[in-house]
Amino acid sequence: MKKWWQNEIVYQIYPRSFKDSNSDGYGDINGIISKLDYIKKLGVTMIWLTPVYKSPMADNGYDISDYYYINEEFGTMEDFDKLIDECNIRDIKIMMDMVLNHTSDEHPWFKEALKDPTSKYHDYYIFKASKEVPNNWRGQFGGSAWEKVDGRDEYYLHTYHIKQPDLNWENPKLREEIYKMIQWWIDKGIKAFRLDAINHIKKNPSYASIEPDGYDGLAAIKKMGRNQEGLGEFLTELNERVFKPNNCMTVAETAGLTNEMYKDFIGKDGYFSLVFDFRHTALELESGSEWYSRKEWELKDLNDTLMETQTNIQKYGWSGIYFENHDQPRSTSKYLGNYDENEDAIKMLGAYFFFMHGVPFIYQGQELGMKNFVRKSIEDFDDIDSINQYHRAINEGYSEEEALFIVNSRSRDNARVPFAWDDSSYVGFSDVNPWLMPLDDNSKHNAKSEEKENSILNFYRSMIDFRKNSDISEILIYGKLEPVETKTKDVFAYRRKLDSKSVLCIFNFNDKDVNVEINKGEILFSNYHMEQAQEGTLKPFQMNILDENN
Ligand code: GLC
Ligand code: CA
Repeated sequence: MKKWWQNEIVYQIYPRSFKDSNSDGYGDINGIISKLDYIKKLGVTMIWLTPVYKSPMADNGYDISDYYYINEEFGTMEDFDKLIDECNIRDIKIMMDMVLNHTSDEHPWFKEALKDPTSKYHDYYIFKASKEVPNNWRGQFGGSAWEKVDGRDEYYLHTYHIKQPDLNWENPKLREEIYKMIQWWIDKGIKAFRLDAINHIKKNPSYASIEPDGYDGLAAIKKMGRNQEGLGEFLTELNERVFKPNNCMTVAETAGLTNEMYKDFIGKDGYFSLVFDFRHTALELESGSEWYSRKEWELKDLNDTLMETQTNIQKYGWSGIYFENHDQPRSTSKYLGNYDENEDAIKMLGAYFFFMHGVPFIYQGQELGMKNFVRKSIEDFDDIDSINQYHRAINEGYSEEEALFIVNSRSRDNARVPFAWDDSSYVGFSDVNPWLMPLDDNSKHNAKSEEKENSILNFYRSMIDFRKNSDISEILIYGKLEPVETKTKDVFAYRRKLDSKSVLCIFNFNDKDVNVEINKGEILFSNYHMEQAQEGTLKPFQMNILDENN
């Protein structure tokens, strides 16, 4: 059965870095409103806003101190209501980011819990009475996942930063508060939600120490606090209570899912509409999350991984397909190496992920071909995760130079610099110095200069339009994906197939002409201007969608 959200194309906005309307150097809601026509013209149908709730911004909004309030930095609830109206006028939907694993330590619940251990809010969080650190779990941002409560023999758990205490989902009262809060946003007209770190909400009840996996004698908390048995009960209830009755679209951030778990997560009666899978984002890492544990990888690994995940996921349901987000480096830099400025290559890469099976997510600036940038000192980083990974790398024995190289290539700051609107000072983002410095090469790709024929931006527009409005839209949206062997190095292909109809999508990651037998017939879509595939020859970085129905 078809679902409304299968037709969506989502554009992720990082509000702090999108557009500053009041000259304080921080992006805001009115800034987003002023750019809705740009978003509409791109052709996307929905925007996902990373958190805009009240927050001390220790983790850029993923530390919420009031779920019912808009952070002053971003504007007011009135501005937000205006955003809803302006989006409605343009037929653009809004997806909100729901952070339910933790709050800020400045949330009134947590403040109350600290002040009075007998208050009901104490049981909203995970406290352990103990004179010593309760176990050896290492938080996702490094160091012990436990923080001592001042003046008491008691610790609280934080999977992420010290300022992000974990909520206690075992407590039904807490769960009720969460459902009430989500319903409040639904009643405001929000029908789509991204669920942050949602597979962390269940912890292993033993709270036992485990085998250390680092220099620090600690072990990654994800081994005991992610995808744990019993998680499904919480997720079922969450879905039954709020999302399902309101026919919402939900996408869950679920790193580390095994193939066996897809059915429960996104199957017919799954907890969510979509999951974000992470396998392809960590190819260069030995361990999946420690940035310093780097290894060699090839484009073939990327394709193998994506084809495998795609085939496994579509057996049960749908995923959100993406190459970039606010936690990932720019895909141009990561996957194109020396060709990160080559426009044909950037377009080809964009199309490669975009035409896979799932709901496409495009991260702001991706449609311009923005790339990573290099920082010369650790002082230049803002992101807490980068700073932590830098120090961990040094503790693990890497030199300062190596550690800097490591964080530069993966830093979350890469994607978080201001969106480049033009090549004026501060890239048209603001008229004062922005919160995070855009380095000059940031402006090479900007929205203004790309208002021209054949630009990357216009390619994204045509690609989006093609998925929505062409003769083969149904195939591109609903068709199953079938990996296709090209027998040529760094040329990848997949087929999209619906009933008896199919199209072949083929991508040349080489900087030269290659001959691939299956590249033949009528070209339905391409990053080159051609109507007919030329006897098997693919130009450098060419991509084609070929008709297979004759
Ligand atoms: C998710 C977010 C990330 C944040 C973390 C903690 O992974 O995408 O930005 O730091 O959760 O909320
Ligand atoms: Ca502002």
